[in-house]
Amino acid sequence: MVYEEIKMSASDIRPALQIQNVTKTFGRKTAVDNVSFDLYPGEVFGFLGPNGAGKTTIIKMVMGFFRPDEGTIIINGFNRKTHYEAAMASIGGIVENPEMYNTLSARLNLKMYARLHKGVTSERIDEVLELVGLSDRADDPVKKYSLGMKQRIGLAQAMLHHPKVLILDEPTNGLDPAGIHLLRDVLKKLAHEEGVAVMVSSHLLSEMQLMCDRIGIISHGKLLQICSIEDLMQKAQSSSVYRIKASNPSKAKEILSEVYPNRISNIGSDTLDIEIDETQINECVRTLVASGSDILGVQKQESTLEDIFLEITGGGSENE
Ligand SMILES: Nc1ncnc2c1ncn2[C@@H]1O[C@H](COP(=O)(O)OP(=O)(O)OP(=O)(O)O)[C@@H](O)[C@H]1O
Ligand SMILES: [Mg+2]
Repeated sequence: MVYEEIKMSASDIRPALQIQNVTKTFGRKTAVDNVSFDLYPGEVFGFLGPNGAGKTTIIKMVMGFFRPDEGTIIINGFNRKTHYEAAMASIGGIVENPEMYNTLSARLNLKMYARLHKGVTSERIDEVLELVGLSDRADDPVKKYSLGMKQRIGLAQAMLHHPKVLILDEPTNGLDPAGIHLLRDVLKKLAHEEGVAVMVSSHLLSEMQLMCDRIGIISHGKLLQICSIEDLMQKAQSSSVYRIKASNPSKAKEILSEVYPNRISNIGSDTLDIEIDETQINECVRTLVASGSDILGVQKQESTLEDIFLEITGGGSENE
């Protein structure tokens, strides 16, 4: 079952992961504040937020590193609190750098990990090595691997036991563009072709844009918005900020502020930006000309996805 089908029949499909009203505090710090969302089989869900937003804390709770103070986590239908083992058997992931034996090969490392799960065959080890594109180098010692290759072993390890949910915390960290491309292809394949529910976290929207079907934006422990990448792109394209090139922007600002209060931002040496509707731009230019301003040009500003992201999160990291 892939995400496209799920969109059509969302009500019939059981989520692979359900996070319900989850809160976690450290001392007086609320790291995760009443967060709820569902992750579906066949989708890649991007968990986006600035540094310190609470991404790793949520992921660690889902992965069983620590308990939520409040709320419920259900993995593949199993409540993490009451059916811990079954819940954990349904999940795979990488939170921090996976431990590996550097002198052993990737294949042997995977064999060691396979012991942690029931019924992982050597065929499955071959399969996951193939999946992450490491078959050719599987018998080289890990110390000869690049960072990107090590991360791929981590991914192979997380997939050994056929988890329904795969969670990767900042998986693109330290990868070059080719590495990111490969990771993206592997994750999309796992989700769209094998129906795994994949969740990745990042603070970079640009990286998630090509990888994810939906994204959830988190800031200061709160989940602010969940939307599809298409909706976000549409929002970026429908921005209505116009840059007006005028001979005297300060004077232009004075005039326009009376008609359009609080709509002007970014004054440059010969430009000013104003947020108005498409239908108002004519009137705006006429007002300026009537008051004796010279208009040298008007250009619609396209906001980038990063702009939209910063607008939603309020910008900056938790510690600033
Ligand atoms: N073990 C801990 N003890 C105390 N505070 C913690 C602990 N773990 C996280 N925090 C705090 O919880 C908040 C959320 O941290 P978290 O690591 O979840 O953020 P993040 O979104 O993963 O950030 P980053 O993008 O930097 O990885 C931060 O303010 C952090 O300082
Ligand atoms: Mg983190």
